[in-house]
This record gives sequence, C-alpha cells and structure tokens, in this order.
Amino acid sequence: MRTIDWVDGAVVIVDQTRLPGETVWLRLSTVDELVDAIQRLAVRGAPALGVAGAMGVALAAAASRDPAVVAELVRRVETARPTAVNLARGARRAAAHLPSFSAVLDEALRVRDEEIHSSGEMGRLGADLVTSLCGPGVRLLTHCNTGALCTVTGGTALAVAFELHRRAALGEVVASETRPLLQGARLTTWELARAGIPHRLAVDSAGPFLMARGEVDAVILGADRICANGDVVNKVGSYAHALGARAAGIPFICVAPESTVDLSTPSGAEVEIEDRGAAEVAGASAPPGTEAVNPAFDVTPASLVTAIVTDTRVWRP
Ligand code: MRU
Repeated sequence: MRTIDWVDGAVVIVDQTRLPGETVWLRLSTVDELVDAIQRLAVRGAPALGVAGAMGVALAAAASRDPAVVAELVRRVETARPTAVNLARGARRAAAHLPSFSAVLDEALRVRDEEIHSSGEMGRLGADLVTSLCGPGVRLLTHCNTGALCTVTGGTALAVAFELHRRAALGEVVASETRPLLQGARLTTWELARAGIPHRLAVDSAGPFLMARGEVDAVILGADRICANGDVVNKVGSYAHALGARAAGIPFICVAPESTVDLSTPSGAEVEIEDRGAAEVAGASAPPGTEAVNPAFDVTPASLVTAIVTDTRVWRP
C-alpha cells in the first residue's frame, strides 16, 4: 500500500482522518482538493507532505497554461501548512520544471521514489544504532505517527521499529497518543498491530514517568524540520519526551530523511509553528467560548538529542 501516489492524472491518498475505522481512498484532481486534504490532515507527515507538494505542482501545471494562474496555485500548495519543510521543498523542486507538465510530473515521481528509498535506509541505519545503544529486546517509546502513513511506504522512526522487529531485536513499542488529533492512538497503533509488533498505548503525559520507572529504553520519533544547529521541530509533546529521556538517562533519537534537514534555518527559534486553533483542543470538553493555544509542533533543542538518523548518516548534534 502506498499512502500517496499519482494514478491516472490525480493524486491518490488514503484518508488518514478515517483511520483506523475505515480505509478510504481519495482521488484528488485539483489543487483545491489537495490543499483541503493537507489542511485537514487527510495526508500528513513530513515526507508524505513533500510528495503531496510536488504532485500538487503537477495538478497546478495541468490546470492552466497561464503562468500567473499556475504560480498562484503553486503558492497555495507550498503554504498549505507552514512547519514541515518538506511541503514547500517538494513543491519548489517540482516547480523548477515548469511550464512542462511532464517534466514536473517526472520530478514529483522522483520525490516519491526517493522517499520510498529513504525509508529503507533509515530503517537499517536506525536499527543498527538502537541495537548498539540499547542491545536486543529494546523497549521504545514513540510519538505521533512515523510509519508508512507519514511517508509513502515504510516510515521514518517506525521504520526502525519494523526493522528491529524483523531482526527479532524489539521488545515492545509504547505509542504516545498524541493529543489533540491522536495520530499515535489512531494511526501508530494501527500500523503496529498490522505489523504484529507488541505495543501499548499511553497518554502523552505518561511518557516521562514510564521512562523514570524504567519501562522505556529509548525514545524514537520523527521530525518536521531539522535545523542547521540540530534543533528538532516535531509534533507537540516531543519536547516533554526529550526532557523525560534526559532525566531518565536514556537515548532520544530522531529519525527523518535528508529532505527534512533544513540548513537554511539556523535554529528552531526561526521556524513557524502552526497553531491549529481552539476547536481541536477545547472541543466538546471545555465550556463554550474557552480560549485555547494549540501549537501543532514544538522544538526539542539539539542539546537533548542523542542522535539524528537520516537516510545517509547518523548525526550527533
Ligand atoms: O501534524 P502532522 O500529523 O502532519 O505531524 C506529523 C509529525 O509531527 C511527524 O512526527 C513527523 O512528520 C515525522 S515523520 C518524519
């Protein structure tokens, strides 16, 4: 199964808002449909967003021959969400081949294929690292969703868990539920169950305590942007797990492709953190009219990161 692909002139995605209950495929044939899918997280996760960005430019190129119209469509794709560097990067890579639709599409397919290849490399490099740090039978805690659903196939941090499982070197995975949209509870548990990996679900705030109680050997998660100084921008809640890992003296490992490394952003302080508004947080549980702050991501400073595993290297910032 490919989370995102180009099929007969349209972007085809699995609608992640419907999982784990239903597997629904969406055919997105306009930039409007793609931008909507990105903004409501029907397609999500940094590498998948890179592919969506590049394929979005193919939709734009097919929509009009007017360079001004195409440029505006490309801008809308690039800016659909601000934090994951892959989205704008994928769109710009494809847009560099405008106005030729076929050249744009070829580039978008290259972005897709590179992400498929990267997942395999991250899985192997990450599994080697985790085993060298923690030995066999390792118990991992992960946050958000970093499996095939965030890439095209495979995954980033979860690709490491899949590889460790293949090597019979994995004890269990604790999936942190990932408030407020529950990517951990809905998507990571779904992927782990399909892979036959022993796992337990925990509320986000239990993570540091489980580490303190000796139930976790390493934290492993992904990134939406890795800054030049090694700061890791990832799903909100990652920073708390990093503090917990430091207090418990266990490794905190980030796994993301080179396409997420952004050397033009010096540190996490310069990254625009998407705020998704009050409804997701206050929802039905708070009194009507309650104000909320809802940063979708946070910044883990490089000083708390044991290692960053990409598809080509292990970087110890
Ligand atoms: O808001 P989302 O679900 O798109 O956020 C995704 C994440 O934060 C993932 O952890 C990240 O993209 C990792 S995949 C390298």
